[in-house]
Amino acid sequence: MTQKFLWGVASSSHQTEGNNQYNDWWDWEHEGKIEGGVRSGLACDFRNRFKEDLLEIKNLGCNSFRFSVEWSRVEPEKGQWNELEIAFYKDLVLECKKLGIEPMVTLHHFSIPLWFYRQGGFTRKDSHVDFIPYVKKMVEVIGEDVHWWCTINEPIVYTLGAYFAKYMPPGEFNPAKVVAANYHLFLSHREAYRIIKEKNQQAQVGIAHNMLAIRPSRKWHLLERIIANAIDRFYNWAWIDAITGGKVCFSLPFIFPKHSKITAGKCCDFLGVNYYTQALVHLWPKVYPHETSLPQYPVAVTFARRSDNKSDLGWSIYPKGLLKILRRLEKFKLPIFITENGIADKADQHRPKYLVEHLRILAEARNEGIDVAGYFHWSIYDNFEWIKGFGPCFGLLEMNYETQERSRRPSAELFTKIILSHEHAAPSLEKLKLH
Ligand code: BGC
Repeated sequence: MTQKFLWGVASSSHQTEGNNQYNDWWDWEHEGKIEGGVRSGLACDFRNRFKEDLLEIKNLGCNSFRFSVEWSRVEPEKGQWNELEIAFYKDLVLECKKLGIEPMVTLHHFSIPLWFYRQGGFTRKDSHVDFIPYVKKMVEVIGEDVHWWCTINEPIVYTLGAYFAKYMPPGEFNPAKVVAANYHLFLSHREAYRIIKEKNQQAQVGIAHNMLAIRPSRKWHLLERIIANAIDRFYNWAWIDAITGGKVCFSLPFIFPKHSKITAGKCCDFLGVNYYTQALVHLWPKVYPHETSLPQYPVAVTFARRSDNKSDLGWSIYPKGLLKILRRLEKFKLPIFITENGIADKADQHRPKYLVEHLRILAEARNEGIDVAGYFHWSIYDNFEWIKGFGPCFGLLEMNYETQERSRRPSAELFTKIILSHEHAAPSLEKLKLH
């Protein structure tokens, strides 16, 4: 496939737009579920400032921008369409095009309308039927202008967060719901894929899938290896298999009940990978008690060893893991986009190195013949980091939430330099040597 490399930044609606009052997160925030009792409020006021933000994205040298449409803005009550908000997304897309920025549009990025949430969200049988009118509406309005689509952002993170690890609404522990929600999200994706392609055969549709380099904490520990393997199967590969025409099976041995084992045919044109870090599987987590997120279980997953270089969230910097993942994705013979990659680093101490090292991995992968077709840095600016509130800073630009002022961190300038030195072509080891 020869086409220009997509150099972009990524964001999502609820994390940036502000005043998303009709979704589940807004409600949760008002129940005091966010760390420090914080609420998303005006967030980055992207809803009103999108033109200046797009200009900045352009000035950074990007030729693409990944953002999401907020379902609850478009359809605040079942079957009621807010034409003003729909027009906003049309304007947003047209403004991108005007500036020479390719929009990559995500249809579901964690938040859902309250009316849908109150009916059980994606755990409900046939819930995908409610997602379809929204997809149709958006495709009708922007389908002609949008070439790149991510139907669902990180379905595994979303379902685990909501129904297993409890850091997303409704914050339940119910493994059967994890399986059910994944299945219904899959049906939603498959239907959205069909609708988008029907409107525009040329459109390219995929998902943005969170992938982690999942490893045993101790290589020699047979049981940790077996468990790491099982988690890897479920977390990294269940969705990739399902959308590429393999088995549709969202169960995990011992924990999640079986749901289905059908094959559904291929329903994606590219693979979107959100890569941040590694995950280490520990048995008897007393070994690292302070780092375990779920101390009540005999198995724990942590994101760093004590000696690793870490982000402000304690996630280790592990670019090698991305190469391993890309090598495993190669066999699907589909273009791969890094739909998210970034680091919480308020001081911008690690980000420059993080950025260059991950781009180097992409260059290496391409040298091996792996079709990596784009890179989206998460994120354009600091934003509402879900249950963590406004603490973690993932931005190339630093946000001052009081004044809504955005200012470039040094790594923003570095990103621009890198893009320009590549003249928008794909990352190359030669050119990255200079940075
Ligand atoms: C999500 C983003 C989030 C980022 C950093 C990804 O899992 O798609 O919404 O802000 O990670 O945690």
